Amino acid sequence: MKRNKILVVDDEHLIRWSLEQNLKKQGYEVVTAGSGEDALRLAREEQPDLVLLDIQLPGISGIEVLEKIKDYDEEIIVIMVTAHGGLETAVNAMRLGAHDYVSKPFNLDELSIIIKKALETSDLKREVARLRTETKKSVPPNIIGDSRHMKYLMEVLDKVARSEASTVLVQGESGTGKELVAKWIHYSSNRAEKPFIAINCAAVPATLLESELFGHEKGAFTDAKTTKKGLFELADGGTVFLDEIGDMEMGMQAKLLRFLEDRSFRRIGGGRVFTVDVRIISATNKDLQKSIEEKTFRNDLYYRLQVIPIFLPALRERREDIIPLATHFIEHYNRDFNKKVQGIAGMAERMLLDYNWPGNVRELKNVIERAIILGNDETLLLEHLPLEIVAKASPQAGAPMSGFRLPPEGVDIEEVEKELIRQALEISEWNQSKAAKKLNLGIDAFRYRMKKFGYLK
Ligand SMILES: Nc1ncnc2c1ncn2[C@@H]1O[C@H](COP(=O)(O)OP(=O)(O)OP(=O)(O)O)[C@@H](O)[C@H]1O
Ligand SMILES: [Mg+2]
Repeated sequence: MKRNKILVVDDEHLIRWSLEQNLKKQGYEVVTAGSGEDALRLAREEQPDLVLLDIQLPGISGIEVLEKIKDYDEEIIVIMVTAHGGLETAVNAMRLGAHDYVSKPFNLDELSIIIKKALETSDLKREVARLRTETKKSVPPNIIGDSRHMKYLMEVLDKVARSEASTVLVQGESGTGKELVAKWIHYSSNRAEKPFIAINCAAVPATLLESELFGHEKGAFTDAKTTKKGLFELADGGTVFLDEIGDMEMGMQAKLLRFLEDRSFRRIGGGRVFTVDVRIISATNKDLQKSIEEKTFRNDLYYRLQVIPIFLPALRERREDIIPLATHFIEHYNRDFNKKVQGIAGMAERMLLDYNWPGNVRELKNVIERAIILGNDETLLLEHLPLEIVAKASPQAGAPMSGFRLPPEGVDIEEVEKELIRQALEISEWNQSKAAKKLNLGIDAFRYRMKKFGYLK
């Protein structure tokens, strides 16, 4: 087990020395500082778990040191040491985030109990937080789909998750599941218990993005009122998901590239170099090759990011996934809205299968959500689908008529006619005049064909 580190701050040499001896005997690692300035430096360099801080110090006061330490890292426990009668300052210190206080002269046994309890509480807090995130989301999300594409994808994802591969680039149209894939990789890897932090590079202005990623020191710029850790630091041991990386501004791309070289960085306005262990999964729906040609994306960064490239095919390229996904979303929204939809009616299913899904899985999910809210039936019906899906669905996905090709062996034109009549009827929900219009036929000519093919008595 890791030994806890304690920083002892007192201007009296003898007190420092006796505390150091005593605490070391109890198994702690101990560093000492004789002034507030040294204390602040050591708080950064040594990353102690706990600081025993004398309120009365020459130079910057103990209270100021406390504030700065808390700005720097809120999790460091600070126990104040007050001179006899300094109760008011002690209370003030507690308000500023001190964990507890002891008054001088102190009893070493009492002090060691206070320290032990404080460290235990903070371990406990951390454990509770860890368990909470764990039960919430440390299982990988469900990825639905058994098309050839998705089966292959799952094999790749499985390998990536178990590997040490530190940079992954996920490409695909909007709504194809890029973020879902990123989460799956994280929560299936041995990083699952560490943070998964996502940031949308397109939504954050370039200047802010740098401080979001790398953090900043207090005073680094006008708005930097406190020290702030960046995402790379916060996600140490875990995964950072850089969404919409294709929209990252060129200057920031250079900084990211530098970070990726050895995973080390400085906070803005800071001198200390931090090195972290984070997996970077980036995603984009842009064609980065094209961006490179257009000189809006760095070639070298592209190669860095896509050590493992993953492509998510559009939903229309894997239509076998449509019904399994729809069924999955029906179950999901049944639970949300307390409905009992069991299946999809034939015609509705056909429309879902024929539609082109420009918004991919996200669009399908929204369509199902709407259908479940609207419908009160056991099955999902055509009338619950949005008009544009019914109107735009076509077997050739909007291809012009010239897209029809006569196969070499030929076809029976009657069969084709029959099939077209049937499709027109289905699309129009068996409304004859609507169906006739779709084939540019008069109602009589249409009804004549319906009879001929046995759709009408
Ligand atoms: N294979 C899948 N199985 C289950 N749900 C999926 C699948 N693919 C996508 N989804 C769901 O569809 C929605 C859109 O997915 P996601 O946000 O990952 O897409 P994206 O590619 O990041 O889109 P964008 O480029 O617009 O950000 C999410 O609710 C996600 O859970
Ligand atoms: Mg996304």
